[in-house]
Amino acid sequence: MRIGVLTAGGDCPGLNAVIRSVVHRAVVGHGDEVIGFEDGFKGLLDGRHRKLDLEAVSGILARGGTILGSSRLERARLREACESSKELAREYGIDVLIPIGGEGTLTASRMLSDAGLPVVGVPKTIDNDISATDRTFGFDTAVGVATEAIDRLKTTAESHQRVMVVEVMGRHAGWIALESGMAGGAHGICLPERPFDPADLVKMVEERFARGKKFAVICVAEGAHPAEGTMDYKKGAIDQFGHERFAGIGTKLAAELERRLGKEARPVILGHVQRGGTPTAYDRVLATRFGWHAVEAAHRGEFGMMTSLKGTDIRMVPLAEATTELKRVPENRMNEAESVF
Ligand code: F6P
Repeated sequence: MRIGVLTAGGDCPGLNAVIRSVVHRAVVGHGDEVIGFEDGFKGLLDGRHRKLDLEAVSGILARGGTILGSSRLERARLREACESSKELAREYGIDVLIPIGGEGTLTASRMLSDAGLPVVGVPKTIDNDISATDRTFGFDTAVGVATEAIDRLKTTAESHQRVMVVEVMGRHAGWIALESGMAGGAHGICLPERPFDPADLVKMVEERFARGKKFAVICVAEGAHPAEGTMDYKKGAIDQFGHERFAGIGTKLAAELERRLGKEARPVILGHVQRGGTPTAYDRVLATRFGWHAVEAAHRGEFGMMTSLKGTDIRMVPLAEATTELKRVPENRMNEAESVF
């Protein structure tokens, strides 16, 4: 079998572990050939690819980023890919394409699959917002980075009696904010799923200071927003990939709290630090298992499917199931952290 693999969308720790695992299982386990397309679907359309053998993936397990490069694809080029998907497969002589990506990539993969390209998807995203899988790799690493940041910010916040507003990634789902906020013991957590009232945060900080605690850390997801009429805040415009541009909730909330509290507040935007660097052991294992199962599924001819984690097992689920709606933080998970909302 000849397998094509690509990584698309925002990068995430663990992508290289999947690529390595696909190559090992395919080459050693099945005697397959693997080629890697460069820079996501762009490489597929432009014919940029290279052979991936054991040597090519040697030493990449612990490396962040992706050796293949990644990119986002405009909708027009995606349509182009769908129209020519069968010819593309013939041109490169591939029997299956394994795209590794988030919601956008998996949606594109489903469209390519519907257009006749044999596809087995692998979900990735630090946001952990893909339905049909309990976890995506990259999330554990991002939560670890954000938790360490909260731990560190507490000591400097205390020294200066400040309020720190830590903005973490999470467009529509606040998983990173929820879990790093819980793990780091943040005093407030703001998620996209539940609009917040800055007055509640002001009350929380004042109560803490009244109890003699002279600092507070608030963890806010980039997609969080204040409840209607509680604070002057406008959502960002939509970019060419259909994503909302963020309007800087961390910076605006810190300024608002400083004004209302009369205390110093500082925003800290963690940004792409959460996506960089070496994956945790958990993410390396999950990524490796996804790669192994993607190759097995390809050999069983299970196309139009993607790998997913269900409990502790890896199962194959239809791409359609994974792309119908985002997995957002449910009410019961918010309730568990309620004392800090
Ligand atoms: O979807 C993953 C993600 O890291 C989001 O959390 C974040 O909003 C976005 O990608 C950032 O994208 P870019 O790399 O284009 O700045």
